Amino acid sequence: MAASSSGLDGLVVAETELSEVDGEQGRLVIRGFDVEVLAERSEFEDVCHLLWKGALPSAAEKAGLRARMGEARSAAYRLLPHLGDALTQADGMTALRAATGHLSASDPAAISIVGALPVFASAWLRATRGLPAIAPDPSLSLAADYLRMIGGELPQMALVQGMDAYLVTVSDHGMNASTFAARVVASTASDDVSAVVAGICALKGPLHGGAPGPVLDMLDAIGAAEQAEAWLEQALAQGERIMGFGHRIYRVRDPRAAVFEQAIERLQAQNVASPRLALARAVERAAEGALRARHPERPLHTNVEFYTAVLLDTVGLPRELFTPTFAVARAAGWCAHIAEQRRAGRLIRPESRYVGPPPLSRVAALA
Ligand code: COA
Repeated sequence: MAASSSGLDGLVVAETELSEVDGEQGRLVIRGFDVEVLAERSEFEDVCHLLWKGALPSAAEKAGLRARMGEARSAAYRLLPHLGDALTQADGMTALRAATGHLSASDPAAISIVGALPVFASAWLRATRGLPAIAPDPSLSLAADYLRMIGGELPQMALVQGMDAYLVTVSDHGMNASTFAARVVASTASDDVSAVVAGICALKGPLHGGAPGPVLDMLDAIGAAEQAEAWLEQALAQGERIMGFGHRIYRVRDPRAAVFEQAIERLQAQNVASPRLALARAVERAAEGALRARHPERPLHTNVEFYTAVLLDTVGLPRELFTPTFAVARAAGWCAHIAEQRRAGRLIRPESRYVGPPPLSRVAALA
């Protein structure tokens, strides 16, 4: 039997045309485009088309996809009264998991699912605040309508651009844990909704997509740049992991951190203040120093979640929505991977090495 690795580090489990993560160079390519290029020029619908169809859309294709995404949001909104207690869950990812399970497995999956998630996430947030859900406006882009369904007003263009930059940038990222989970379920010939629910379940954890809310909590707890070093030293001395740092693949700074910093700078240039950017940069410097001192052999830099927190905060999202918003974006990648896995057509079924007690003889077992 092959050597085991409890985290499957370095193991190639699929061939994919969807995205490539170069952890040494700090480069992310999505279907032939550097993520920096996509984030600067594309809306989320463009990248959905890229992931699902293999090319950026023509103007007519984009209009068609945008309209169908709008219809999917309206269909999800009509489903809200039938979601039972899904939207009264205390945690947004638990709500999303439950609500997504109500989608019909036979729908044309990708558009229905990706269209539904922002409706569920915004309705959940409003329910936690005792507010009614806001009906989608199918004429808007998904990013604009998502912000409108959260806040109740048509958002200014700068915020929509910030949201698009976020959604585009995190839409896919190689064989991350949630994508793997979705592909495992798809490989059993289960339905697309079940595979996406598996992705949501994996993304929920703080070692994957659950970190950006805690990142903001950490920035609040640190409070001021001059307290960063002492705060981080104490956290590390207590054996805590610093949220938003470290990555299984990247040995350099996660390229998406720089994309988000630029998106924040663009927002600032359009007079949208970023309340925590300066503090975040100071904490990043202090954390890198503290982590280098403790793990000189292991480069630990900012991962996507650190500046996710700062960008989504600047766009005006409450921290409870950070991970559900990650799910909205990554669902585009999950759906593309689910389709690719189906084409591969092979059950994912690795092995384990038994290290339990040796079997008793039948006679001894019955005695
Ligand atoms: N803070 C402090 N120490 C960290 C760390 C962090 N954020 N990330 C890794 N380390 C340390 C580990 O404690 C370990 O030290 P040890 O060998 O003395 O036990 C060493 O670095 C290697 O970590 P390992 O667990 O092997 O790395 P991994 O590839 O399994 O983990 C993450 C990757 C993302 C799970 C990990 O870096 C982490 O927990 N980060 C914080 C959570 C986070 O930001 N999640 C979002 C990910 S995008």
